Amino acid sequence: MSDMKESLLALRDRFDKEIEQIKDSDAAEKMRVAYLGKKGSLTQVLRGMGGLTPEERPEVGKVANDVRTHMEEFLEQVTNQIKTFESSKKLEREKIDVTLPYKFNGAGARHPLNMAINEICDIFLGLGYSIGEGPEVEYDKYNFELLRIPEGHPARDTQDTFYINDNILLRTQTSGMQIRIMEQTKPPIKVICPGKVYRSDALDSTHSPVFHQIEGLVVDKGVTMGDLVGSLRLFAKKLFGDNTEIRLRPHHFPFTEPSVEVDLTCWSCGGCGCRVCKNEGWIEVLGAGMVHPEVLSNCGIDPEVYSGFAFGIGVERTAMGRYGIDDIRLLYENDVRFLEQFK
Ligand code: DAH
Repeated sequence: MSDMKESLLALRDRFDKEIEQIKDSDAAEKMRVAYLGKKGSLTQVLRGMGGLTPEERPEVGKVANDVRTHMEEFLEQVTNQIKTFESSKKLEREKIDVTLPYKFNGAGARHPLNMAINEICDIFLGLGYSIGEGPEVEYDKYNFELLRIPEGHPARDTQDTFYINDNILLRTQTSGMQIRIMEQTKPPIKVICPGKVYRSDALDSTHSPVFHQIEGLVVDKGVTMGDLVGSLRLFAKKLFGDNTEIRLRPHHFPFTEPSVEVDLTCWSCGGCGCRVCKNEGWIEVLGAGMVHPEVLSNCGIDPEVYSGFAFGIGVERTAMGRYGIDDIRLLYENDVRFLEQFK
């Protein structure tokens, strides 16, 4: 019996020495098989248990169990250490250096026209208007006909445009949105419609074949010219400052009656007269008027019950005044040196 005990203890010593040399998890697994596997050394020794007397068995069995537990625990401990070491090595190998310099492409800036549109829309949103949008490729009836500009009307000459066919064109004004809105909505109506418009004009410092307008429309019971003036005064002061006044000049638009052109106090000289306002002290910014009764009834709204006002703001001119831009072409050339100034 002491023979067996000795072999077990010798086996344990051998195991302890060998495990010191282990360097990777493969070697650890090999050792596990060599000692604890089916044909392993410990298993071999335990086969000899059969030759022991029943009295000897428990004592040798205890030693054998201790040796097995010792080996198992030792192996597990070493295997864990090796695994931790190996994975930290792997992390080290796969490390990415996030401090490397990268190429910065530069952040963009809002276009001054969009800035102006946003600013103007914000003012009217604050006055309780909602925002509407419609197509740039428009039917003749919305752009002209239902706004009381029939074929052959002289107003068509001043708004020559690009025709898709006899009935479809690139819209020359956002005023067609008045019709679209009134056809779809019942009063009370209070809406602004920003958008692009087209005219076959040559490009120079104040004209472009593509430009932007913001249409305004208010229809309700008892809407008067006083409401129009009040709204526009408020708009002018919010956009250009408290000292800004508006001036109304009688004009003619086929779809409003009466109609006016609206000037604002010159934003460059404050009204004394300068190069920007051609010494007038005023700058024309928009057209407006009371919606013509015929236009209301064209859209199924009874002009005996309802009245309304409308206006159309030129966005380019407003943006140029607001941001001190002296040539309209700068707005379309997309020169980064110009655009960057609006960051
Ligand atoms: N659509 C007109 C233009 O392009 C501007 C305009 C004038 C709009 C009077 C209106 C208005 O809504 O009432 O010249």
